[in-house]
Amino acid sequence: MTILDGRKTSKDIKEEIKAEVDKMKANGEKVPHLAAVIVGNDGASLTYVGSKVRACERVGFESTMVRLPNTTSEIELLDTIEELNNNDDIDGFIIQLPLPPQINTQKVLMAVHPDKDVDGFHPTNFGKMSLDMSTFIPATPFGILELIDRYGVETKGKHTVVIGRSHIVGRPMSILMGRKGFPGNSTVTLTHSHTKNITQITSQADIVISALGIPNFLKAEMVKDDAVIIDVGITRVPDDSEKGYHITGDVDFENVSKKASFITPVPGGVGPMTIAMLLKNTLIARERHRKNRG
Ligand code: GUN
Repeated sequence: MTILDGRKTSKDIKEEIKAEVDKMKANGEKVPHLAAVIVGNDGASLTYVGSKVRACERVGFESTMVRLPNTTSEIELLDTIEELNNNDDIDGFIIQLPLPPQINTQKVLMAVHPDKDVDGFHPTNFGKMSLDMSTFIPATPFGILELIDRYGVETKGKHTVVIGRSHIVGRPMSILMGRKGFPGNSTVTLTHSHTKNITQITSQADIVISALGIPNFLKAEMVKDDAVIIDVGITRVPDDSEKGYHITGDVDFENVSKKASFITPVPGGVGPMTIAMLLKNTLIARERHRKNRG
């Protein structure tokens, strides 16, 4: 059994990105600039955005955090997005999700200019991804592809079962694994809350990608021997520790890892890859921006 080590892999990717940025600086070029918009005070979202901003600093990017109150109206957020779309200094930006209930998420994501949409959530970019065109791939799915690629996990002709159809992970993952090329060329089954007999389906899978958010959902008896297990779950489970919680994945790691050929741990698997790939998308955005507008 091989652990798909997201901590080490993301560190390697960040070092590669930093080397690119160092070259840009040496050539007197502008470095990539990422902005992150956060609305409200959700603890997990603040932690994620803080990590994204710190990661930018470490690789030498510029970063801007835009913090808006929980009471922000949809119009106010759309105005902020318009400013970021028009700000030539910013190469890419993200709107951290979830948004408060008074704001229509889909409307907001559609307002982000596709060239600056480093999360890959705009329908134009999602459509391009589905059509095998070059685009921004959402960071978590992109991170999973990168792990599969760097560890040489075979995907061609394999049966990949994706659990969960969220717009951020499950849905794009189901598209990417069935695309032509590597990673891809899988036969994909997308399962969700209305799926019947899920054990019957997961136990036929060569690759299981679980993005459900239910701690320890995937048990050893639900997977076959030598399956590849990708755990995207990051649920905060309250405990008596100083932090008050610990992070738990969707997979019963202790037992499932005994059967798996490759498996991602939680924490330290897919999670760290998300930030590395957001940086990668921002680097790509800067490069495209430079070619288009100097
Ligand atoms: N909330 C949970 N995951 C993500 C993500 O990848 N991007 C953004 N913007 N918000 C999120």
